Amino acid sequence: MKRYLACSLLALGALLSSPLAHAAPGESPKPSDEARTRWFRDARLGIFIHWGVYSVPAGEYKGKPVGWIGEWIMKQASIPVADYRAFAKDFTAANYKPEDWADLIKESGARYTVITAKHHDGFSLYDSAVSDWDVAGDCPSPDDLLAPLAAAVRARGLKFGLYYSQAQDWTHPGGAIMGKKAGEAGWDPAQTGDFDAYLRDVAVPQTREILTRYQPDVLWWDTPVNMNTERARPLHELLALQPGIITNNRLGGDFKGDTKTPEQHIPPRGFPGEMFEVCMTMNDTWGFKKNDLNWKSSRDIIRNLSDISSKGGNFLLNIGPDATGRIPETSVKILKDLGRWMRVNSEAIYATTASPFPRRLPWGRVTQKADADGTTTLFLHVWDWPADGQLLLPTLQTKPASVRILATNARASAKLSPEGLLVRVGATAPDSDVSVVKLTFKKPLVITQRPYVEPASDGAFTLTAFDADRHGSLLGDIPIEGGGNSAFIARWRHDEWWIEYQLNSLAARTWRVEAELRAEKSTKLLLKNGATEVAADIAATSGDAFQKITLGTIALPAGKTALELRPVRGQWSSIDLRALRLIPVP
Ligand code: GLC
Repeated sequence: MKRYLACSLLALGALLSSPLAHAAPGESPKPSDEARTRWFRDARLGIFIHWGVYSVPAGEYKGKPVGWIGEWIMKQASIPVADYRAFAKDFTAANYKPEDWADLIKESGARYTVITAKHHDGFSLYDSAVSDWDVAGDCPSPDDLLAPLAAAVRARGLKFGLYYSQAQDWTHPGGAIMGKKAGEAGWDPAQTGDFDAYLRDVAVPQTREILTRYQPDVLWWDTPVNMNTERARPLHELLALQPGIITNNRLGGDFKGDTKTPEQHIPPRGFPGEMFEVCMTMNDTWGFKKNDLNWKSSRDIIRNLSDISSKGGNFLLNIGPDATGRIPETSVKILKDLGRWMRVNSEAIYATTASPFPRRLPWGRVTQKADADGTTTLFLHVWDWPADGQLLLPTLQTKPASVRILATNARASAKLSPEGLLVRVGATAPDSDVSVVKLTFKKPLVITQRPYVEPASDGAFTLTAFDADRHGSLLGDIPIEGGGNSAFIARWRHDEWWIEYQLNSLAARTWRVEAELRAEKSTKLLLKNGATEVAADIAATSGDAFQKITLGTIALPAGKTALELRPVRGQWSSIDLRALRLIPVP
């Protein structure tokens, strides 16, 4: 094992002297970012794999279920290091078939995969020269679970990435523990040690190992607990070993990497002009939990991909194999359903960019592709197929050269109208989840839709569910149910979720805010605009009917501004919100 260290130090020395290596914080030492990141931005879909010793207890300890995400069981249940290490003898990987995994990843339509090399429990899926807490130690699995998967995915033309928990490590002494200061004792005295020594003796050499052994195309840092620029720098500088590598924003310090990493929720407007990758589980856990059966539907997953792509981001969809290396059946089904959809519609996903429409469309999403010859293609991702067979592309005043239903290649038509381009797609949706209509334009698109809502002719703002920027969290997204005018923000149940409306009022004035909602229990929210906050009490409504209630009055400035609706922490109860009206107060 020592030989790895010798050759990698030589390699590292040669590279660190190159101009590429000494990048300033926040910059990645890489060739041109455009060329380097092209494959990633075009890929749009990756498969995350969380696999490790935590898959043995699988969400239970001493016969009792342990809450939250499965790969955190050691911390959640304060399992002593020795007891946790004893699980390794049952981490057999007996059913691990990397070729089958690679086939399934390929079949899903994903273009890359990212697997955990070492997670917060400190266990490595490869034989580390600087640790005995790995697959080559006290566990019956093969001594390297990463190399065969790297070879199998690359043999299928896919990219291979590694997740590495660079700071948190609940087994090696000195590893960070979320909620504890550097060097502060954890739940087991065996964890006590010096954090900087841990970084020097474990995190840095292991990062060098995985970079030199597997040449990953992506390095996925996670939870920069107690990290700062000085501590992160040695890790960042190792990236010079893989000049083309893509990394994320979770290393720590001022190092921003290439991608933002919104987790379990989709940012309402993405991050215009920046690379981002939404990572999400198929149920509620990253690591395998035998009793987590709260699976998203294949439709949910396909629509998440459609939504994320329409904002110009990537979707990193997680699977959590069990301790034998078996991928849960429901995960396999979802990946196969996703693949079936991608085989027909991937043209609307791969190498596309964000929608040209600044506001959400009631019937679905849009991605686009611009070709060198000046052709622009719009892909309409129709979630709610129109009963009247017509889709409006608001304010678009350019006629397409052709309109096709992607799945059938059937011709469709479009005509200009004062409201925008009316696309006539017929009565039958080719796909019950997301149907794609492909519009090809030979001239530049003329779209005058504004990213904000303005008062209608009656002087009032009418704000639909689609006009709301819905800010979710680690606990998920605020969903919209229904389509068209009956759509509503549904099950707005967590008080950390909030919404905002982008408005443009011609003059500064006071507005009466009326909501069309239903609430099982009375609850409280704040209307917020800048420093202005107005408390709004919401009484429980009766039955299923939506009721119109006045939330309060609020003064808004002239020009573009945002009206936020934020639950009062600890006093919030789920509501469904269909619409908001702001009526000018004389
Ligand atoms: C969170 C969790 C970690 C998981 C990661 C995936 O950071 O701490 O367990 O691997 O999310 O994004």
